[in-house]
Amino acid sequence: MEATARAHTNIALIKYWGKRNESLILPTNNSLSLTLDGFFTTTTVNFHEDYSKDTFLLDGQEETGEAYNRVIGFLDLIRRQAGKNIHAKVESMNDVPTAAGFASSASGFAALAAAGSKAIGMELDDQELSRLTRQGSGSACRSIYGGFAEWQMGEREDGLDSHAVPIAPQSYWDVRVAAVVLTATKKKVLSREGMKRTVETSAFYDGWLKGIPADLKGIKQAIQEKDFEMLGAIAESNCQKMHATTLGAYPPFTYWQDSTMRVMQTVQELREQGIPAYFTIDAGPNVKVLFLPEDEEKVKETLEAVPGVTDVILSKPGSGITYL
Ligand code: PMV
Repeated sequence: MEATARAHTNIALIKYWGKRNESLILPTNNSLSLTLDGFFTTTTVNFHEDYSKDTFLLDGQEETGEAYNRVIGFLDLIRRQAGKNIHAKVESMNDVPTAAGFASSASGFAALAAAGSKAIGMELDDQELSRLTRQGSGSACRSIYGGFAEWQMGEREDGLDSHAVPIAPQSYWDVRVAAVVLTATKKKVLSREGMKRTVETSAFYDGWLKGIPADLKGIKQAIQEKDFEMLGAIAESNCQKMHATTLGAYPPFTYWQDSTMRVMQTVQELREQGIPAYFTIDAGPNVKVLFLPEDEEKVKETLEAVPGVTDVILSKPGSGITYL
């Protein structure tokens, strides 16, 4: 019983930042993302009666630590849902440009959920697959769909109504994203830990939540009208509000480093020169820059010239889950 699936990573324009249920991974707000073609994971899952334990190979290397435990925890979930007690061999290849330093959890868990559920014989529709994927990594539930997708937080305690829905397909609008890679200078606060501390202690967390409905409404209108300035301005503002909550947490923290701020300033300077470019940042120092195809050369060379930038990787909208 073997299946292979490919999933692309996604970048949130309206961020998921906080859980209302830690174990089921249920969020405190809706989020909205764009799936990217530049970064993807291809995973093969093989369930076999002869296997006496699970194995996990990542880029050809057998994993044993934290990564292995997260994958096995997720296989347990698939086995429980399928009602089958059978071990698996999981082989994943991450197609993320070398040294990009990106979290691969979104593409990783989406590919694992798709390949694993298919290999064990479950026939899930996209919504069911998104719900399953969510329990591996929250942001991954949006990677089931290509183009723009929204994760609807849901209201139920059991999480049955918490999954992504498609907003506009991959081919709808050719906006571009530059992933700006920086030399990391400090230890990462993992997203899991960062959002927990923020929810529990941040003086600004209520303000963050209050702003979500207007940001969501605005960004959906921007997508519908293909209004790039509006899309970018809302995404940039939403990102800054999310990061502001970390400064109001206790103990306070920030994901930004000096080079992060230099890239943010450079993006604002590009706008002053008449080039529509907007930034967004996840739980780390790297910056993603939204721009239009006609400005590709100028945006790339400007970002590459910023001190502390080691790479600029360009991406188009990506597709949802595919089976190989
Ligand atoms: O799904 P996680 O645990 O990798 O959390 C992702 C959180 C952010 O990347 C900061 C925002 C988002 O919506 O992707």
